[in-house]
Amino acid sequence: MKIKFLNKKVLITGGLGFIGSSLASKLVSQGALVTLVDSLIPQYGGNIFNIHNIAKHVTINICDVRDPFAMGHLLKGQDFLFNLAGQTSHMDSMTDPQTDLDINANAQLSILEACRKYNPAIKIVFASTRQLYGRPDYLPVDEKHPIRPVDVNGINKLAGEWYHLLYNNVYGIRACALRLTNTYGPGMRVKDARQTFLGIWVRSLIEGKPINVFGDGMQLRDFNYVDDCVDALLLAGASELANGKIYNLGSSEVTGLKGLAEMMVDMYPGGVFQLVPFPEDRKAIDIGDYYSDFSLISQDLGWIPKIDLKTGLQKTLAYYKEHHVHYWEN
Ligand SMILES: NC(=O)c1ccc[n+]([C@@H]2O[C@H](COP(=O)([O-])OP(=O)(O)OC[C@H]3O[C@@H](n4cnc5c(N)ncnc54)[C@H](O)[C@@H]3O)[C@@H](O)[C@H]2O)c1
Repeated sequence: MKIKFLNKKVLITGGLGFIGSSLASKLVSQGALVTLVDSLIPQYGGNIFNIHNIAKHVTINICDVRDPFAMGHLLKGQDFLFNLAGQTSHMDSMTDPQTDLDINANAQLSILEACRKYNPAIKIVFASTRQLYGRPDYLPVDEKHPIRPVDVNGINKLAGEWYHLLYNNVYGIRACALRLTNTYGPGMRVKDARQTFLGIWVRSLIEGKPINVFGDGMQLRDFNYVDDCVDALLLAGASELANGKIYNLGSSEVTGLKGLAEMMVDMYPGGVFQLVPFPEDRKAIDIGDYYSDFSLISQDLGWIPKIDLKTGLQKTLAYYKEHHVHYWEN
């Protein structure tokens, strides 16, 4: 894979965000010429500190993917696009559905139009989500599972995903989509629960407050450490077999949320958790138990997650213990 990205021009939308910044770091280490696009809208996951180790080795462009002129300009001459910019909060998608539509669907279409006009040879990997399956009919959820989004974000991400596949199928602009499951690790938004509940759990632990687990905490989930997610993005970027395909990411280590909270408080001295009633607005869009069948990406691209949950959580907690001043104000 090193050879694949060496001296290649790579654009990452959402590049100052959680996953985008980790991806940028790996690509820089492989000799890629990386440009990061991010709007740094305060409610989202972008944080300039996420790239403190590589800031001198990347080009940063603070702009909005909803600006078709800027995107047209930025996409020209790029070899790869890792398209990760997104509004990620499920709750915000319900209270402000139009913004979610503009970023997760409309802007995706205009990015693809810009590729068609100015750079049809580009290769694209799109970060989609398991959220679009909704409440699973069966577990583990494979890519053939019915699509039944439970929130506005799931619908708009589905549109964004399928615009990519359509442009692959109709115009031959090589694109594929990875449906990410819960991803965690250094660089995630921990200020609040907008990106992931794990973020606010980490903050609560470090601040000496109890972790709030909604309901009985028996909901099952699978988790990927960010480095594993980055590996999958790079494998998809490097593969021609992936073109036009959708792949689930996931983990064979499945855990209930209460079990996860127990694991986290055990590894953080003084940590406690409590079960609290499920807030009604969250319960209405909760998907219940979920975990993925990720055998397709394993077969096609050889991806399997390598970092176990305990190791990943330890790395994450150590990172925020050291760097939390860059992620929330006291
Ligand atoms: N983290 C997860 O568990 C997870 C799960 C499923 C899917 N995803 C998808 O992966 C992608 C990356 O997610 P993440 O976890 O790194 O979240 P993130 O919020 O940290 O990253 C998204 C980045 O996009 C930027 N952004 C948002 N709107 C923008 C706009 N209009 N113009 C330019 N930049 C904009 C944000 O500032 C942020 O830096 C998202 O598309 C998300 O839907 C993530």
